[in-house]
Formats: sequence, C-alpha cells, structure tokens
Amino acid sequence: MLPAWHHSLLMKAARREPTRRIPVWLMRQAGRYLPEYRALRRQLDFLALCKDPQRCAEVAIRTVERLGVDAAILFSDLLLILEPMGLGLEFPGSGGPRLRNPIRSAFDVDRLRELPGMDGLEFVAEAVRRTRAGLPDHLPLIGFAGAPFTLAAYAVEGGPSRDYRLTKSLMYTDPGAWDALLGRLARSVARYLAAQIDAGAQAVQVFDSWVGCLGADDYRHYVLPHSRAVFQALQAFRMDVPAIHFATGNPALLPLLGEAGGSIIGVDWRSPLEDAWRAVGDSKGLQGNLDPAVLLASPAEIRRRVRQMIEPVRGRAGYIANLGHGVLPQTPVENVLAMVDAVHEFE
Ligand code: CP3
Repeated sequence: MLPAWHHSLLMKAARREPTRRIPVWLMRQAGRYLPEYRALRRQLDFLALCKDPQRCAEVAIRTVERLGVDAAILFSDLLLILEPMGLGLEFPGSGGPRLRNPIRSAFDVDRLRELPGMDGLEFVAEAVRRTRAGLPDHLPLIGFAGAPFTLAAYAVEGGPSRDYRLTKSLMYTDPGAWDALLGRLARSVARYLAAQIDAGAQAVQVFDSWVGCLGADDYRHYVLPHSRAVFQALQAFRMDVPAIHFATGNPALLPLLGEAGGSIIGVDWRSPLEDAWRAVGDSKGLQGNLDPAVLLASPAEIRRRVRQMIEPVRGRAGYIANLGHGVLPQTPVENVLAMVDAVHEFE
C-alpha cells in the first residue's frame, strides 16, 4: 500500500494530478517571524540549532501544526553543505552569513573538496529522519539544497552581495575554474539531495535564489548545464521524487529554468502566474508567487491578493501556492495564517 503522503495535495499537484483544493506552504515558514522560534534562538545560536536534529525536527513540525500548511520543509540552511567542502561558515548575528575563506581563484577551486557522501552532514540526514518520523503520515516533507550558481556566489563573495562582481569576474575571466567549481558543487548537491531522499524526504526544492543577477545568455552558457546535471542525477536516482526548481529576479530565465530541470518551477512575484506558466510550458507544474511584502498588509488585503493571484490559474492541475520568496522576519503570524486560509478557501 502506498503511504498516505503519496495521496497528499502537494504530491498530487507535483504530479500534475487534479486536487480537491490547492496545496500551500511557505518558503521560510519556520523562522524569525514566529515568537516560539525566536524564543528557541535566545537559547541556541543558529548553527548549533541546525546541527541538533531533534530540535530541527521539532521546529519544522511545530511550524506545520501552527500554520496548517500542506507540507513541511526540512529545517536546515542552504550553506551548510559548504562546510565539509572546506569553507568556514559563520552566522554573525546581523548582515547575513559569512564564509571565512572564500573562493577567488583557480587555486581556491582546487582546494574545494567535493562532497563524497554525508560525512560532516550526518546531522542533516538525521534531521530528515526525525522530522519524517514525527510528522503525520499525510504530510510530505520537502528536502532542499542550493543550486550550483547560488552556492558558488556565496562561496566566491564570502557573503551576500549586491552586484556579484567577484562571482561574475571569476565566471568571465576564468571559465575553466568556473566550470570546475560549478561541477564540484553540482555533484555534491546531487549526492546531498539523494541522501535527504534516502533519509525520508518526499520532494526536494533546489533554490537558485541569486541567479536572477544573470542575463539569459549567460545563464544558458555558464549555469544551465550544471543545474541540469543536478536534476538529471536526481532523476536517475529516483524518478518519482518531485523536484521544485526555484529562482528569483529575472523572468527572462523562466524557460531556461524549465529546460535545466525540475517538474515544478518556483517563481517570484515579478511575473503573473499565467505568464510564468506560458513561459515554462504545460509540461511543468508551477509554485508561487505572492510578494512576501504583501504579508505586511492587512489580512483583508492579503485575502484579496491571494484571490487575485490564484484566479487566473484556478482549476489548473499542477499548481502549488507559496510566496515568491521567503517570509520576512517582520511578518505578523496572523497574516501568514490569513494567506494559508485564503488559499484553502479556493475549491
Ligand atoms: O522554513 C524554512 O524554510 C526553514 C529552512 C530554511 C532556512 N534557510 C533557515 C534559516 C531554508 C529553506 C533556508 C534557505 C536559505 N538559506 C536560502 C535560500 C532561500 C532564500 O531565502 O533565498 C539562502 C540564500 C540561505 C542563506 C541564509 N541563511 C541567509 C542569507 C540567512 C540570513 C538572512 C536571514 O533571512 O536570516 C540565513 C539564516 C537563516 N536560515 C535563518 C533561518 C531560520 C535565520 C537565522 C536566525 O535564526 O537568525
């Protein structure tokens, strides 16, 4: 007999089967906008939390219970994979994550270790197992990782960046080193996601959060082959596990994201859903795409904007409601609940 999550709204939508209502979850649904998360963080720093599988499981599960969303996402961070690859990772309280020894040259690329397996990331697999074990059977668990470009951008810049000057400079001046870097990241990410699936994740999302800084030609040339390698490896590993391919910032990339892979494309708020769907084509599902800042408005306005977002794709199989990027820390919890309820009110 198939497990209950196989028939869940999210897994059906991911297979582009009709659902009785629209599934919804939110990127960064477990985070600082939740008072109970902030309370936990007063006792424990972020990296220590990420390395404590039991607490990660509790955070993910409690969030799903509180919000009534249709999927849990693993509680972890995108950048943890870079630690066992040889980069020192810190979360210094403000200003975002920092990498202590960034990649700036072909020589640095050579010292980046390819992830052989889950050595040094065992706590992530354990967090997946414990989250799966503690979730109700009917709710799927989404594993995740960064796409090669976004991980490379962090590895090269050493932290967040406005213009990705160092990343683009490596890409344009030393294409050989660039390909070596993205190749190593792509193979590592594929193994990392396969390990999450083995440990009990029902679906995976690949975040290419920063790739929108590129034009379409550069994406096709410098990035697409490496992202495609991740999705092809996953398909070869487990064809039946849905993969969500998410990016932000540049609607012109949408057809290329679809080409690179993933059965569902995650889109930001810059394109209306119907335009995004036309761009990625009927063979793909779609996830998104309310502007996270709309959740700072009143619950009535949130409901209006949710209806406006969904109306054009209503009744189309393969749609998963979400934000266009992560929940902002300033968001009132009741506004997140208003969004979830507004989606659930749709037939
Ligand atoms: O509910 C969830 O989605 C929890 C799991 C999750 C986190 N980060 C926890 C987290 C996920 C899926 C991520 C993804 C992530 N992390 C991305 C891709 C998504 C995106 O937002 O584009 C990126 C780029 C990162 C790297 C990262 N981690 C940044 C830039 C920051 C600092 C900025 C910020 O939002 O805090 C983090 C920290 C982080 N990751 C927190 C959480 C809950 C906050 C840490 C804290 O408690 O202070």
